[in-house]
Amino acid sequence: MNPASDLASALASTLSSSPAVDAPSSPRIDDLLARMTLAEKIGQLGQVQPQGRSHEAAVRDGAVGSLINVIGEDARHYQRLAVEESRLGIPLLFGRDVIHGFRTVFPIPLAQAASFDPDLVREAAAAAAREAAAEGVNWTFSPMLDIARDPRWGRIAESFGEDPVLAAAMGAAMVEGYQQQGLAACAKHFVGYGAAEGGRDYAQAHIPERVLHDIYLPPFRAALEAGSLTLMTAFHDLDGVPLTGHRALVRGLLRERWGYQGLVVSDWNSVIEMIVHGCAEDEAEATRRALAASVDMEMASEAYAHTLVRLVEDGRVPLAQVDEAVRRVLHVKERLGLFDAAPGSASPAADAPVPDAAASQALARRLARDSLVLLHNDGVLPLPFDALSRVALIGPMADAAVDQLGCWVFDGDPARSTTVRQALVDRLGADRLLVAPGLPHPRSDDKSGIDDAVAAARAADVAVLCLGEDALLSGEAHSRAHLGLPGAQLALLEAVARTGRPTIVVVLSGRPLVLTDALPHAGALLQAWHPGSQTGPALVDVLGGQSPSGRLPVSLPRSVGQVPIHYNHHRTGRPPLDDAPSIPSGTPLDPSGFYSSYLDEDHRPLFPFGHGLHYGEVVYGDIEPASATVSRGQSLNFSLTLHNRGAHAVVETAQLYVRDVCASVTRPVRELKAFARVPLAPGERRQVTFRLHTDQLAFHGPDLAPVVEPGRHELWIGPDCTRGAHARFDVSA
Ligand code: BGC
Repeated sequence: MNPASDLASALASTLSSSPAVDAPSSPRIDDLLARMTLAEKIGQLGQVQPQGRSHEAAVRDGAVGSLINVIGEDARHYQRLAVEESRLGIPLLFGRDVIHGFRTVFPIPLAQAASFDPDLVREAAAAAAREAAAEGVNWTFSPMLDIARDPRWGRIAESFGEDPVLAAAMGAAMVEGYQQQGLAACAKHFVGYGAAEGGRDYAQAHIPERVLHDIYLPPFRAALEAGSLTLMTAFHDLDGVPLTGHRALVRGLLRERWGYQGLVVSDWNSVIEMIVHGCAEDEAEATRRALAASVDMEMASEAYAHTLVRLVEDGRVPLAQVDEAVRRVLHVKERLGLFDAAPGSASPAADAPVPDAAASQALARRLARDSLVLLHNDGVLPLPFDALSRVALIGPMADAAVDQLGCWVFDGDPARSTTVRQALVDRLGADRLLVAPGLPHPRSDDKSGIDDAVAAARAADVAVLCLGEDALLSGEAHSRAHLGLPGAQLALLEAVARTGRPTIVVVLSGRPLVLTDALPHAGALLQAWHPGSQTGPALVDVLGGQSPSGRLPVSLPRSVGQVPIHYNHHRTGRPPLDDAPSIPSGTPLDPSGFYSSYLDEDHRPLFPFGHGLHYGEVVYGDIEPASATVSRGQSLNFSLTLHNRGAHAVVETAQLYVRDVCASVTRPVRELKAFARVPLAPGERRQVTFRLHTDQLAFHGPDLAPVVEPGRHELWIGPDCTRGAHARFDVSA
């Protein structure tokens, strides 16, 4: 199949305005559709946010298909009106951003990706779904599948990072977890939203078509294959076309090529924002564009409600386009079982047994623990808590019950939050803990508390500094141009480190920060992200001896000038010398050769994708076979033995990377293809086998068609994207 010509033909067919795809049908859907008035049909295509009970009449009239941000008793009330008092009794969808938990808050999605553990992520999504469904929510706007290569972008916190294979695995797991528990998932934001220029939210994106297909689209494909009932279009424009009116990508690629029959919803106001983009004259044109692209439901704004009756009556929008959209909305309602819910119930899932808060908390603790990435350790960790007389706990994030939850937390119960301070009091007793925030707030420049922090460090055996970003510094429309520790945090760290006490720095943040200046002062550096409700217990587990196992789902830059940064960049004709830094920071500007590097900065990240230490010492054996040949369409097994020579039990995340040595287009230096979390007791050896299918080597070739090209491939299995045992294989024609 040739995507380029597919896109062209998709475009041609949609320009003729006739719906070219089958929309779902069932006896119930067919029957309803036959009985609905045009106004009732259009009603199904609207999602609005009521103020309290403001939309009772609209719901009774069948003039609305979904409500956003209505939960609890209000949801039950509106559902009763829809089912019992509207003419056709069609139930409502209740949408809500359940992004990383509901009452119990799990780590932000970026942190969840750092666990490299899709099974645990699935479990967490299922737990969140149970809590949300109990409050009447039946549709979550998650997972966010946007590949993020630019940490300035605030929504990197909601992403699974820079790698398509990791993001696909995490996204699919979340979809499964939500939907197992009766919550419709929503794959968002289709597509390329993370490529916003300059990391500035909502800004234009330019993604070459090959990169779009090889990098940005696969996580969406995986989420849809996992059964995501819905998908959301993005706010931005891709090469000049706002995604909410992108016929070629939404109707053409998603519907016609991929055969997706789920419900496509716009983002908040993104239909009418096409007017602000300057791509639609007025609401009527915005409606036409969005519906022609097959955006079934409009979120928040009401252009469909205002203009569609007229557009259909005038023949400017074919009724068939409205009908197909209505079918998709009804289909989701049917799939969720809403038509068969008990009277007065928002959905069948709402009637499941009340979720067990303690079980969710335990899961949140596990996931938070497994998301922590130990970046550096000179041996100060783990801490022998019982042997320490006093611990100094310093920093503005040490007792931040709300900020530790991270962005997009509408429903988190602060009473379920345990901070690091509380968890250390529980572990050590208040007498052995000296608490000194140092700064009143993470962004504060007020240095008057630093002396107290220094005094606390001097009076203790060890200093634990909880630094980073408050929750408001990441998330939607929260981009940053500077990526250092905010406020006077670096001064605080330097002052504490000067005491000579062993210093452990824990970074709680919604994005990778530039930690280049912090690193030299840290005996140990732990990237904790925003770990959620169980931040304190999870950190104390790891500080006290449970080995960390998280790995970086993103490259950590040395300086803002390196971004956008990602490990899987293309090979250049003038690569930087293999093992040498380009030019270390701070050297005079003296070009040393014509290489792809910086004059004033090392070209490599501070820490690479996949990096993460633990308390063991794992040695990778040789890969078997060391070389092999595989025919297209076949699989190959690669095995090796991991040996934990250390004294601690660990989980080693082994990662398999491939490089296509010579292809018809330039290919990435390395690409992650598979990963496995391998538990290893002290001294244990364990054989690990990866199965690699040649389909996993496919990319979009010169004519933009997917292809697996014959030829030599290099393969590594290792602890991050820069190291590992090496093998080769050939793909034969
Ligand atoms: C965001 C979406 C979100 C929606 C509903 C928008 O501003 O971009 O991700 O699901 O709001 O809250």
